[in-house]
Amino acid sequence: MTFDLLAQDSATKARAGRLETAHGTIETPIFMPVGTAGTVKAVSQQTLKTDINAQIILGNTYHLYLRPGLDVLKAAGGLHKFNGWDRPILTDSGGYQVYSLSNTRKIKEEGVKFRSHVDGSQHLFSPEGVMDIQRVIGADIIMAFDECTPWPCEYDYAARSLEMTHRWLKRCIQRFDSTEGLYGYEQNLFPIVQGSTFKDLRIKSAEFIAEQGRAGNAIGGLSVGEPAELMYEMTELVCDILPKDKPRYLMGVGTPANILENIALGVDMFDCVMPTRNARNGMLFTTQGIVNITNKKWETDFSPLDPELGGHASTFYSRSYVRHLFQSKEMLGPQIASAHNLAFYLWLVKEARKEILAGTFGPWKERMVKQVMTRL
Ligand code: GUN
Repeated sequence: MTFDLLAQDSATKARAGRLETAHGTIETPIFMPVGTAGTVKAVSQQTLKTDINAQIILGNTYHLYLRPGLDVLKAAGGLHKFNGWDRPILTDSGGYQVYSLSNTRKIKEEGVKFRSHVDGSQHLFSPEGVMDIQRVIGADIIMAFDECTPWPCEYDYAARSLEMTHRWLKRCIQRFDSTEGLYGYEQNLFPIVQGSTFKDLRIKSAEFIAEQGRAGNAIGGLSVGEPAELMYEMTELVCDILPKDKPRYLMGVGTPANILENIALGVDMFDCVMPTRNARNGMLFTTQGIVNITNKKWETDFSPLDPELGGHASTFYSRSYVRHLFQSKEMLGPQIASAHNLAFYLWLVKEARKEILAGTFGPWKERMVKQVMTRL
C-alpha cells in the first residue's frame, strides 16, 4: 500500500492525498460508508458504486465472525467475493463492538470473553484471534484489537487500559507479520491511538503508535460523548505526532461539522453510522442544511432532495414524495434517504479535497460548517 501526500493547506493542517490498495485507489480526505455485516444498510452495492461512488467501505469483525461466520467467508473466498464489492474494504477489529454490543464481557490480558448478542454463545477475542479472523475476512485494511475507553473515564483506568492496548498491539503485529493473506493480495494493519481525553496519555500513545511504522494509523476512543472541542484538542495533539507520510484515520466520526473540523486538523479518513442511521429516522443532510423529512413543512415541496448533489436518490425524488414514504413506513423511504445521505457525505469530502488542492480550504470550511449544520 502506498500513500502520496499531494497537498497541504497553508492556513489549516488539512491534507489531500492518494492511497493505493490492492483493490484500488482512495482519494483522501475520504468518508467510508459503514457496512457492519457486509452490507451498507439499505443501500445496494450497485448504488454505492455507480451512484454514490464510494471508494472504500467498512466491515466489522465482530458481526461477520458471528454471522455468516468464518467457514462461509472462507468458502466464498473472502468478503470481497462474498458481497461482490471489488473496491477496497476496511474491517474494524471488534475492539469497539464487543464492548457496546455483546452481553456479558470480561476484559483480561489474554483478550475479551463475551456472549454473542445473536444467540448468547460464549467467545474469546484475543489480539491473535482477531488478526486470524481479519485474514479470513480479507479486508485491505485491518484494525488492531484495542480497548475503546468510555467517556468520562478515570485517569488510572485510561492509563492501564492504554498500556494493555499497546501490549495487545505488539501481539497483533507479531501475529499479522508472521501470517499471510489467504487470497493472494496485500492486507495492511493499522494500529489505534487511545488515551481517552488525557493529553499526556494521548501523546504517549501517539508516540508509541508512530514508532510501529505501519502503513497507516488510526485514532480511537473519541466521539464517545465528550464535548466536540475536547475531541478536536485530542485530534490535533495526536495528528501533530503521527507521521506526515501515512494516512490518519479517525474512527467513528462524525457529524458533517466534525468531519470538516477534523480534516482541518490533519485527518484523512473517516467512518460513521450517522449518515445511514439518521437517514433511517428521516434526517437528511443537504448542501443547504439539515432536513427532517417527516416534518409537515415538506408535504407539498416537489423539489428534489438536493439538486446540487450527484446521484439518483438526491436528484430524482422530491421531498414531498420521500416524506410520504416515511409517513407510510414504506421501505423505499429509508433506502432513498440512506443513498442520499451517503451521497452528501461523499460530496462533502470531495469538495473539501478540491478546496485543499486549490489552497482555499480554510475560509470554505468556516462557511460550510455553518451552512451544512443549519436546520431547515
Ligand atoms: N470505532 C470507533 N471508535 C473506535 C475505537 O476506539 N476502537 C475501535 N476498534 N473501533 C472504533
